Amino acid sequence: MSTKIIEFDRVVAGYSPSLTILNETTLDAAAGAITLLIGPNGAGKSTVLKTLFGLLTPRAGEIRFEGRRINGRQPRALLADGIAFVPQGRNLFGSLSVRHNLELGGITLPRSLLAQRIEEVLARFPRIRERIDNQASTLSGGEQKQLEVGRALLLRPRVLLIDEPSIGLSPRLVQDVMTLLRTLADAGTTVLMVEQNVRTALKYANRALVLEMGRLALDRPASELLHDPDLNRLFLGGHAGTAASVQ
Ligand SMILES: Nc1ncnc2c1ncn2[C@@H]1O[C@H](COP(=O)(O)OP(=O)(O)O)[C@@H](O)[C@H]1O
Ligand SMILES: [Mg+2]
Repeated sequence: MSTKIIEFDRVVAGYSPSLTILNETTLDAAAGAITLLIGPNGAGKSTVLKTLFGLLTPRAGEIRFEGRRINGRQPRALLADGIAFVPQGRNLFGSLSVRHNLELGGITLPRSLLAQRIEEVLARFPRIRERIDNQASTLSGGEQKQLEVGRALLLRPRVLLIDEPSIGLSPRLVQDVMTLLRTLADAGTTVLMVEQNVRTALKYANRALVLEMGRLALDRPASELLHDPDLNRLFLGGHAGTAASVQ
């Protein structure tokens, strides 16, 4: 039996009182697994991650982390609790050095511990180490995503939330990022990932949750969904996407 480390229990949330995006959303993520959150554009996938990370406050329902209610907790407190978030897009300070970006990610750590943790991250990412004194903006897209993940790992999170890490990366770099997430999960980190690159992500994930209009429409083992001939229809939910979106 897997442990539900993250639970959404009939969560209602949105960007204004009149705009409900998560509509009694109920879902969970198992400890030490990669849970993939997929669904049409606008389904509320990013909103799930933002609400979980305390960037939006639920209006109703309950969010639990390791069985404890975390509604209304601020991102800083959640980071300290062991939840890290790598948002979609570029999230580095491009004009600062790679080292400086890492240091900012561990700013809450005592200085000596920070140095040790940075060393641990650099041991995992040799290409980042080679560029440690370079401006972050000079790194390739894949290296920048690695740096973002590395920065998130400084606090040794138990849960890593990551939103569309493959955007803008070549297929090979996408494989690298997915392999990294798989390695982290195999070492016990829980990964909750939103990804449009569904076919590739399913190969690395344990489980897939399909979100449609802010509600869980499907909950399946990733390998099962990957081999489902109806994957396109299931994933797209009859909405705006095209079959070409399922790569
Ligand atoms: N900052 C925001 N302010 C207002 N509405 C937003 C904001 N971010 C997202 N939305 C709306 O919330 C809905 C769900 O968005 P999102 O969670 O980003 O979807 P997904 O990640 O599944 O594509 C969309 O209709 C989107 O337009
Ligand atoms: Mg999104």
